[in-house]
Amino acid sequence: MASKIQSVSAPREPAPVMSTSSTILNMREKEKYIEDFEFPFCDESSKYEKVAKIGQGTFGEVFKARARNSSKKFVAMKKVLMDNEKEGFPITALREIKILQLLKHENVVNLIEICRTKATLHNKYRSTFYLVFDFCEHDLAGLLSNVNVKFSLGEIKRVMQQLLNGLYYIHSNKILHRDMKAANVLITKNGVLKLADFGLARAFSVAKSGQANKYTNRVVTLWYRPPELLLGDRNYGPPVDMWGAGCIMAEMWTRSPIMQGPTEQQQLILISQLCGSCTPDVWPGVESLDLYNKMELPKGQKRKVKVRCRHSVEPRLLLDGPHAVRPGEHARPAHAEHVRVPGAAAPPRPPAPPPPRARGAAQASSAHAGLGLPGPSVLGCDVTVIVIVM
Ligand SMILES: Nc1ncnc2c1ncn2[C@@H]1O[C@H](COP(=O)(O)OP(=O)(O)OP(=O)(O)O)[C@@H](O)[C@H]1O
Ligand SMILES: [Mg+2]
Repeated sequence: MASKIQSVSAPREPAPVMSTSSTILNMREKEKYIEDFEFPFCDESSKYEKVAKIGQGTFGEVFKARARNSSKKFVAMKKVLMDNEKEGFPITALREIKILQLLKHENVVNLIEICRTKATLHNKYRSTFYLVFDFCEHDLAGLLSNVNVKFSLGEIKRVMQQLLNGLYYIHSNKILHRDMKAANVLITKNGVLKLADFGLARAFSVAKSGQANKYTNRVVTLWYRPPELLLGDRNYGPPVDMWGAGCIMAEMWTRSPIMQGPTEQQQLILISQLCGSCTPDVWPGVESLDLYNKMELPKGQKRKVKVRCRHSVEPRLLLDGPHAVRPGEHARPAHAEHVRVPGAAAPPRPPAPPPPRARGAAQASSAHAGLGLPGPSVLGCDVTVIVIVM
């Protein structure tokens, strides 16, 4: 064996396999070569011990795991789905990793490293790869679906402030998230919000005159998809994420997604019914979008956000205040401003003992203390400084 393998340059790697007839390895030697191969920048996932499965996403499972060298350090391991890959490591996962490596911010989930299982006969010499993240105790969808978790106005403001600061950061770095939804917003036990799931994210550039971008419009989970994408726009930008932020803000009160269309057509109808008709009057240029004449767009619809929120003064102010805008993307803020929200600025309370995990049907008592969000705060006219996004 030794005579067939050349000396290596990298200290931890076995020699490369030679393909000339004199150096061809037999099957067992190849297997041993693969088994012994040590990827220099990709540790084995066995350094973490899986504790529970916490998510089943489109692109793979997510596990809570404990670092074996520290019983207190928890991580989330997102498995890279390789089943349908004939051409090596999936390009979508590569894009997600590249973007996550670029983005380092308090309100963006932190990618610690990529890990892999050892390639063995047992797994047919195919490693499984994991994206390893700092662990966050909650996701916003889980919290909102838990009737025991109550959000005060101050807490809602704090959530939105952090969400918009995260978006401001990623947009400043020329990244679009393209899958804003409550399930992709994580919150730590200390109340720090983290934007997560960059599986659909991409870099964007401002289209130069005469050269429109041609991004896919088949992004963003349907219920959070903005009207321009539903109408076939492929030259879009940060406002697509701002729409999702607006949907999430409304959901902080309604506790479930505000527009749950079963199809793209139905989603457009729901948007028109809530936010008013999509016409060139309120949205100059809408008529030139590819699907403008192909989709049914209800005419004569008035904006009904105020009516929908009439049972609660706060959301009405937040969603339809002086800064409220219209479905047209031009009328949404170009990107999140660096947001300062009076009433949300109080520092988080000292961390309380971790509450029971509040995902899905899990119970959480004393949710306020557990979340570490600021305590109740007053509602004042200051709420209108929030950048309104619908
Ligand atoms: N760092 C983390 N800490 C705790 N939980 C996490 C973390 N990352 C992801 N999760 C959980 O796993 C779920 C799925 O993760 P993620 O959204 O990244 O995967 P996905 O495959 O792209 O999902 P989907 O297609 O459903 O949007 C999240 O909604 C969240 O509940
Ligand atoms: Mg997700």
